[in-house]
Amino acid sequence: MSKVTVVGAGNVGATCANVLAFNEVADEVVMLDVKEGVSEGKAMDMMQTAQLLGFDSTLVGCTNDYAQTAGSDIVIITSGIPRKPGMTREELIGVNAGIVKTVAENALKYSPDAIIVVISNPMDTMTYLALKSLGLPKNRIIGMGGALDSSRFKYNLSQALGCNANEVEGMVIGGHGDTTMIPLARLATYKGIPVTQLLSAEKIEEVVKATMVGGATLTGLLGTSAWYAPGAAGAIVAEAILHNQKKMIPCSVALGSEYGESDICIGVPVILGKNGIEKIVELDLNAEEKDLFAKSAKAVRATNDVLKEINVL
Ligand code: 2OP
Repeated sequence: MSKVTVVGAGNVGATCANVLAFNEVADEVVMLDVKEGVSEGKAMDMMQTAQLLGFDSTLVGCTNDYAQTAGSDIVIITSGIPRKPGMTREELIGVNAGIVKTVAENALKYSPDAIIVVISNPMDTMTYLALKSLGLPKNRIIGMGGALDSSRFKYNLSQALGCNANEVEGMVIGGHGDTTMIPLARLATYKGIPVTQLLSAEKIEEVVKATMVGGATLTGLLGTSAWYAPGAAGAIVAEAILHNQKKMIPCSVALGSEYGESDICIGVPVILGKNGIEKIVELDLNAEEKDLFAKSAKAVRATNDVLKEINVL
């Protein structure tokens, strides 16, 4: 019996739970929210699609009742406030840090063996907060940002190439921030052909820029943060773990000395399997990429420092 809990039944959490159930990633999906009735209602609504769509997973909603989350293999944290147009992810730290810490501690009381997947923003810093405050081994704390940003990168590349997005490969590493993420254009391919051979340098630059502000572009259009791709990214990270897929997905993880960094959670490619992070993959970055990574780490670290200033760590 596999079980995944999604904390926060807002747009991102509900989408994540929906993907988990629809794709039968887990036998049971529990949604928990602080707002009375919201997760119960969304879970009931989704369960009424089971016969229409033909999935067998069970969805349950509850209001702040962590006992119902007991025995979860994975806990996905989406709680907190989303961005409004013009806001950066980093500006959410004051409100979201306290929420994420409390949620993670409560969830762990009932699911002491769970792997924690963090979606809440600022994602790298919230992942770091979970790492520092929960005392879990680092293979069990994973931020999903790179999965989302890489999917946006592949979408943008496919638009520029005029091709099927599923035939594009590409990764985004670094922080999950408008100025900190690093789309690795040099390593991106279409059917194994480097995109640098297919697109002009100007076009690639446009794709990279569009990817970096991908979340902000959607926030401008929607009036709040995006949810379909963020929710789905959380679900595919959970799937890779629960189904022991050994997929390589860029995620925000604790670095010991890899990429020349330590005491930080930041996006790098990792192999995901039943133990959570099974391996950190060290790419052979060129000098320019290494420099971007060091700058990104510096910016993520500056946001992490706020955790101490606001006494959450
Ligand atoms: C995004 O990039 C919500 O951070 C998320 O859309």
